Parts: sequence; C-alpha cells; structure tokens
Amino acid sequence: MERKPREHWGSRIGFLMAAAGSAVGLGNIWRFPYLAGENGGSAFIIIYLIFALVIGISIMIAEFAVGRRTQLAAVGAYKSINTRWTFAGVLGVISAFFIMGFYPVVGGWSTAYIIKSFTGLLSNSTGIKDAFVGFISNPIQPVAWMIFFLFLNILIVAKGIASGIEKAGKILMPTLFTLLILIAIRSITLPGASAGLSFLFKPDFSKVNGETFLAALGQAFFSLSLGMGCMMTYGSYLNRDEKLPNNALIVTLMDTGIAILAGIAIFPALFAFGLEPDSGPGLVFVVVPQIFAAMGGIGSLFSAIFFVALTVAALTSSVSLLEVVVAFLMDQRGWTRKKSVYVSGGIMVFTGILSSLSMGLMSGFTIFGAGVFDFFDILTDKIFLAIGGMLLAIFVGWFMKKEDLQDELTNSGTVAFGLFNVWYNLVKYVIPLAIAIVAYIGITSIKQTGLMIFGLAIILVLGIFSKKF
Ligand code: TRP
Repeated sequence: MERKPREHWGSRIGFLMAAAGSAVGLGNIWRFPYLAGENGGSAFIIIYLIFALVIGISIMIAEFAVGRRTQLAAVGAYKSINTRWTFAGVLGVISAFFIMGFYPVVGGWSTAYIIKSFTGLLSNSTGIKDAFVGFISNPIQPVAWMIFFLFLNILIVAKGIASGIEKAGKILMPTLFTLLILIAIRSITLPGASAGLSFLFKPDFSKVNGETFLAALGQAFFSLSLGMGCMMTYGSYLNRDEKLPNNALIVTLMDTGIAILAGIAIFPALFAFGLEPDSGPGLVFVVVPQIFAAMGGIGSLFSAIFFVALTVAALTSSVSLLEVVVAFLMDQRGWTRKKSVYVSGGIMVFTGILSSLSMGLMSGFTIFGAGVFDFFDILTDKIFLAIGGMLLAIFVGWFMKKEDLQDELTNSGTVAFGLFNVWYNLVKYVIPLAIAIVAYIGITSIKQTGLMIFGLAIILVLGIFSKKF
C-alpha cells in the first residue's frame, strides 16, 4: 500500500502541550476531587501519587517508545511487532469508544454551565443541587450540549495533528493553568479554608480498602491517558530527536500538579462553606457553583471562568481519545482523516445520546446493573485501562528486544537515560505483578461483580481472536 508520509508535531512545545492537554482533563478537575472526597482525602491522594509517579511514568515512557519506534498507532504498533498481541491494541480502540461514550456528556454539562453561570444558576431558587439533577436528567438540553461538545472535537481532529490538536493545546493549556491558579488563590484566602487543606494533606487511612487501591490505580491511568494506546498514538507522531523519558516526566508532573491544584481550588472553599466532601460525580457541578453563589455578584464571573477551564481541559483530552480511533482507521483501514473523523464521531454521538439519557429518561435501562453512562465509565476506569497497561508492560518487557528499547529511549545512543535498567525491570517484573494484585483485590471487593466479569470476558475473547484483527 502506498503511504503518505506520517504527520508530525510541529514543535517540541507543541507536542508537550498536546500530550499534557490529553492528560489534563475532566480526570483532574471533575473526577480526582470527588474520588479523593469519597476515599478519605489525603490517604487516597498518597496512594494515587505513588501509582502515578512509579507506574504511570514508566508506562508512559513505554507507550511513547512503542509508538515512536513503530510509527504506528495502537493496533498497528502491536501488530507490527507481534500479531498475537494485536488484541491489546484493539482493546485500546474499544476503550477509546467507551470513554467517549460518557466523556462528552460531562464535557457538555461543563459547556452548558459556562452559560448557566450567567443565567441564574447561582441564584436558583430550587437550589443548585436540584438544578443540576434536573438539568442532567432533561432529555433535550444536556444531549444538545453533548453534541455541541462532540462537534468541537470533530472540528479539531479533522484538521489534523499540527494545525488542529497541537494549536488548540498550545493556546488552551496555559489558559487553563492561569484560571485554576486564580481560583485556588480565591479558595485558600476564604475564612475557614484551612480545614480543606488539612483534609487534602493529613491522611486518614481508615477509609482505605481494596477498592480504594483499584480506584487510585484506575484514576492514575485515566488521568495520565494511559493503558489504551493514546500516548502511543501521540508518540507515533514524535520526532526522532525528542527525549522520551523527559517528556513523560514533564507530562506526569504537570498532570499530577494540576490535579492537586484542582483539589486546592475546591476543598478549602468547600469546607469554608460547610459543605460535604463526599458528594460524588456531582461535586464540581453542585459544590463549585454553590461556592461561587456565596461570593455575591462577582461569583457569576468566577463560576464562568471555572467552567471555561473545565471545558477547555475536557476538550484537549477528548480530542486525544477521538484521535486514537481516527489514527487506527487511517493506519489500518487506509481511510482519509476526514472520513475517519466523521464516521467515528457519528458513532460517538449515538453512544453519547444513550449515555446522557441514562441520567433521566433511560435510567431504568441497565446492563449488569449499571446505566449506560456508568457502564462505559466503570468498564474503562476499573478494568480496561489497568489491564491495558498491564498488557503493555508485559508486551514491552517480554516480547520486545531490550536493545531496541534502549536504542529508542536513548535516541540511538545520542542521549543518556541513566535509569534505563530501573525502568526496564519495573516494566518487566514489578508493574505487571503490581497491577495484577491491585486488580485482583479490587475486582473481588467491588460491588459490580457481573460487570467486571463481563469486562474480563471481552478481553479474553479479543485475546483468543487476536490474529483475526
Ligand atoms: N486523561 C484525560 C483526563 O484526565 C482523559 C483521557 C484522554 C484519557 N485520553 C485518554 C483517559 C486516554 C484514558 C486514556 O480527563
């Protein structure tokens, strides 16, 4: 097959912003605070940080290396090295579809809340919580916002790597960072804010159990965009002279930094206003407007700024998920970029509608006890990503040549990577074992056992038919 030369990032900072843009998203600002809130605050955060900084960085380096070495996105990358492993790439593409089954719904809520900040949300007489529940269970409004949000994704990804994804990241990421700092400063200067800081930084291990570890591991993968070939795909567009370990370190530090910053923006204010930290996925949408409502007139502006930041963060992440599917269709099916974007985007509109409706109209429809939204969310976050990461580690550690990896990570010996052996042994032995243990403990202690078994069965079936893909 005649191939067009592969697209590449336009600049070093452009790649970094795109990769960090992928990592920093709803995971950091929407999910991290509510998970931390539900799991005892800093105890969860400490476990999370260990997972992110040891397992996360190592897996990210591995994904970058495989992607750049093969110059192919997830499926093609595995396939070109060992056809028995193609299924691990296919699992990644399925994960991308599943995450995009719920992610744009939350992205749509966030986009809607920018406008709602100015149109009476903060002074809502029925209460901000009821307003949120009423909004997300509405059959029209959130669906329309979800489609709008997906439409933005389609526009950006259709433009391609350098002129779409990279440009968006370069402008939007610094904006987000500035906005979050502003809000964090406002939050910690409120009277009574210190309770929130001690919730964030004084560990309470009494809330930690088997599920906490799986939640923290899943969150590390989700937040860093790992375990489904996303960073592999981004790595495949990387130039030969980029230092992979450095880039992985910077992206991981930025991502964890922003998650902590989001915590600092939310918890001090939350405690200052006497609200509860364990209010679940509605945390950002219920608590944050409440915080801003208590500020008086200027609150609307702060609220709008916050939701601009959240929407921006979500957008630079969801484009990376769409890109995984698009790159697969381009690499493996030879489709054009535009066709790939429109077809996969169209499917995502459909799953997004189901997922949004599961908050209201279709709330009675469940698969293994979970509504459509939760089905996509739990399957990816609690199994697919962690197992995907484990498969990648096994693949890299046991099925790739050590010399090839060393060559890739040192740019053919032109740059040093002093910790190569530490990284290699982590990936080969420690990480697969660690993930297996955490997944086993988590899956056996979780409530949604049926769903977990279903997820594992999907992976098994994919594995059996690997050579067919
Ligand atoms: N990391 C993003 C977030 O925190 C979401 C995301 C983007 C993602 N690409 C991914 C999650 C790939 C898992 C895999 O919001």
